[in-house]
Amino acid sequence: MGIGSRIVGVGSYVPPKIYENKDLEEMMDTSNEWIVQRTGIERRHWVDPKSSTSDLALEASLKAIKDAGLEKTDIDMIILGTLSPDHDFPGTGCFLQAKLDLPEITVLDIRQQCTGFIYGISIADKFIKSGSHKNILVVGAEVHSKGLDKTPRGRGVSVLFGDGAGAVVMQPVEVNDPKKDPHLMTTRLHADGKYAKELWLPAPGMAFEGSERWSEELMAEGLHYPQMNGKVVFVHAVKRMAESLTAACKETGIKFEDVDCFLFHQANLRINSKVAEVLGLDESKIFNTIQDFGNTTAATIPLGMDEAIKAGKLKKGDLVASAAFGSGFTWGSAIWRY
Ligand code: UT7
Repeated sequence: MGIGSRIVGVGSYVPPKIYENKDLEEMMDTSNEWIVQRTGIERRHWVDPKSSTSDLALEASLKAIKDAGLEKTDIDMIILGTLSPDHDFPGTGCFLQAKLDLPEITVLDIRQQCTGFIYGISIADKFIKSGSHKNILVVGAEVHSKGLDKTPRGRGVSVLFGDGAGAVVMQPVEVNDPKKDPHLMTTRLHADGKYAKELWLPAPGMAFEGSERWSEELMAEGLHYPQMNGKVVFVHAVKRMAESLTAACKETGIKFEDVDCFLFHQANLRINSKVAEVLGLDESKIFNTIQDFGNTTAATIPLGMDEAIKAGKLKKGDLVASAAFGSGFTWGSAIWRY
């Protein structure tokens, strides 16, 4: 059939320090019961003051490269998704590249938030199929904890997010039997920017009137913290993830019951249950990690993939279906045989 791409290495990393729900109770006037009931989250990992997004990305990348049986010098492109960059510019991919000591290779930063990993593997697939690159590192990494409002004002958002990174290495593969051979079968990518302000980080920003992107007033209003209309996001997430996954399965001729492991974005356990309910999926095949890591945005899917492999829930040759939804709004789905 021709050349496709496949995931040949997987790795993840979370910082060691764990914050249980009860650790947030006093900080944010919340409760373990509220967080567990509304989201399924029990704990999350948050970085120490010295660590940055590229530090977490580095650890996950080194593990993925090792898992692929490669030397880091084999990598010829880095695609990095994050909404919590080390700095506004340059992209965090450049900081990761320097830490990996891989000068001159192609680096691409992408800004698709919770859908970043699905966009990332889709872009890697196209570069691989073009023949221009052979060992592409796709990374999702986030340090949310340094950007959250950890007072009662921020509790609707801040209890949800954790720090972490996940990475995969993708390579070309000869695909003879598209139903059976390990490869990325399809990705579907979407966005609708009219909902951009339903989940966003307003400040600092060039769109503010005036000659500076930053002011004391913006800070006093808390506009340098993420703002979310949770109920609107929830409803759209269920609809769009279900819709995109259905289309991906139809396109590839795959029935939901053929799928061995569903790796969904981890924003809320109730979102994933609802998607399962709407589509009639076997919920035991959805591998959730939100209980232990919270929402790690661009990292949830590769981190989940690594955890599923470690837990024996995902083996080479298994069929994986993935879907994500997040800020932008962006959403998408992917199907691959591992
Ligand atoms: O990955 C990015 C995509 N993000 C998502 O997909 C998130 C989607 N949205 C959600 O998961 C849910 O909307 C949330 C978990 C964020 C919120 O759940 P909800 O059931 O929509 O709650 P709510 O925001 O409507 O708040 C309900 C109540 C409010 O109190 P009143 O007005 O009913 O008295 C809030 O003030 O819960 C209160 N509340 C909290 N209470 C304790 C909000 N946050 C908290 C909290 N602890 N952390």
